Amino acid sequence: MCGIIGAVAQRNVVPILLEGLRRLEYRGYDSAGLAVSVNGGLTRVRKPGRVAELEAEIKIQKTHGNLGIAHTRWATHGVPSERNAHPHVSEESLAVVHNGIIENHEALRQRLSEIGYHFTSDTDTEVIVHLIHFHFHQEKDLFQATRKAVTELKGTYAIGVICAAEPNRLVCAREGSPLLIGVGIEEHFIASDVSALLPVTQKVVYLEEGDVADIGLLDFRIVDRSGMQVSRPVQISELSADRAELGGYRHYMQKEIFEQPRALAETLEEALSHGDLNPTIFGDHASNVLSAIDSVTIIACGTSYHAAMVARYWIESVAGIPCNAEVASEYRYRDSVPNPNALIVTISQSGETADTLAALKHAKSLGHVHSLSICNAPESALVRESGLRFLTRAGPEIGVASTKAFTTQLTALLLLALVLGKLRGRISAAQETAHLDALRHLPAMVNQVLLLEPQIELWAERMAFKQHALFLGRGLHYPIAMEGALKLKEISYIHAEAYPAGELKHGPLALVDSDMPVVAIAPNDALLEKLKSNLQEVRARGGELYVLADQDSQMQAQEDVHLIKLPEHAGLLSPILHTVPLQLLAYHAALQKGTDVDKPRNLAKSVTVE
Ligand code: G6P
Repeated sequence: MCGIIGAVAQRNVVPILLEGLRRLEYRGYDSAGLAVSVNGGLTRVRKPGRVAELEAEIKIQKTHGNLGIAHTRWATHGVPSERNAHPHVSEESLAVVHNGIIENHEALRQRLSEIGYHFTSDTDTEVIVHLIHFHFHQEKDLFQATRKAVTELKGTYAIGVICAAEPNRLVCAREGSPLLIGVGIEEHFIASDVSALLPVTQKVVYLEEGDVADIGLLDFRIVDRSGMQVSRPVQISELSADRAELGGYRHYMQKEIFEQPRALAETLEEALSHGDLNPTIFGDHASNVLSAIDSVTIIACGTSYHAAMVARYWIESVAGIPCNAEVASEYRYRDSVPNPNALIVTISQSGETADTLAALKHAKSLGHVHSLSICNAPESALVRESGLRFLTRAGPEIGVASTKAFTTQLTALLLLALVLGKLRGRISAAQETAHLDALRHLPAMVNQVLLLEPQIELWAERMAFKQHALFLGRGLHYPIAMEGALKLKEISYIHAEAYPAGELKHGPLALVDSDMPVVAIAPNDALLEKLKSNLQEVRARGGELYVLADQDSQMQAQEDVHLIKLPEHAGLLSPILHTVPLQLLAYHAALQKGTDVDKPRNLAKSVTVE
């Protein structure tokens, strides 16, 4: 989603801004732009489409400058177009880039129009730049003007501001959207994501909610919401400046699917190094917290929510602890009954999903004190705000459709269920050893499943030009059916729905005919016989079945039943293994259709607005 980078330096900052934008591209966007201060004025270049198009235009215009801000926009208010792309300017003298949503933009727009400001876009952002301009006119100081303006904003924002009259000054502010300052040698930067800055500095200062910062070449100062000057720690980012490369793969999604054995091995490394199920993998004080809690609430969005749903089955059956899974955007606004002895678990690949972050804050405001985040971004806001943490080690995930992040999240959640079970005396020493052995073999088992790709490609060829698909699963594999349906719709644009197979006859059966492929996840578990009956209901209506079974499940392919067999049943690990063919199915269906696999239309990797 939207990304910000800004710089104040003694060198031309345009190449730094462009490289920053390229590094933010994977988040998903539909237009890009930058503004630089040059010769006492501002130059602005904006383009709908890709950063490469902006770069080409910048080359033609030979844009340069020592102070600048740049942005990738993912449309919320107003269609993707040049006029709606950031930066937005006021009177050609002040420019702003913005992530977030200004909720009172209509009232502000009306007020500013009445005093003579002329609006040239449909965005909520444009009110910010005119508001700062209005205060600048009175204050004659960009920092003070920005401070005054942000007190009038309702909603969420991370903003970067420059003005023609102050060519060595970059001002920024945040509320509800991440923003950080990068510290260089006699130069400073801002960014919404540290990855944008890694080629120029690893020294970063994370702004807190309500902070406004005044940044010059040599130094910067930060003022908090109350107007007090504050000092925030300088941290050294441990992320690598190397950009994720495609290697021999055609798409990042394909690469990331095939990286899963390594990602799982790295995620498990610390847990397996202890030789037992050790609570410290969740943090130094985890043992006390995990022993004390009496219920678990898991909160997440999108694919991460599907991981939460699987975990609910694991935690209740393995640890015997009541567990519920909540969609973050619902949880944060519903009247829930808080339980101070509950563990609040948030799951997020990026650690910056706005709804998930807000849900964690909401839980804390209700009096919850125990929190754990499962996250793939070690330096993210979510990790910083959680008491306990487990870092999945999937590595950077660039494809918008989440793959390796999901299976590593599942692995972390299974470890959580097992540790909770052990702390409650529900796992014997022999069972503990068996679980650890199974986990040790997980990467190799995923490798085996990846070998099924040619068979899955044949399924994808048959399904790619269908309009709809139904995914069925039961128990632990119902959320996996949901994840399979989500992957297919995200990247191939085929309408796909998932149902717990037992619900089929309560509605979706009405949709089944020979044009409706029905994908069933049919592992050899306690529910297999029940599931087989559900599948007969599909066959009896002329539906075409695509069944993912286990080697030991005695199922047979037939004319109307396509069958792929995974290795033998993997017990608790089965949902992780059954995810992989569904990822490949979506990937190959998208290839058949020729869609933009890594950047599907309308979607963003990091959803930083609610
Ligand atoms: C977006 C992405 C999904 C992801 C979801 C939650 O919608 O496209 O792939 O599952 O956000 O993201 P998170 O980073 O919190 O896991």
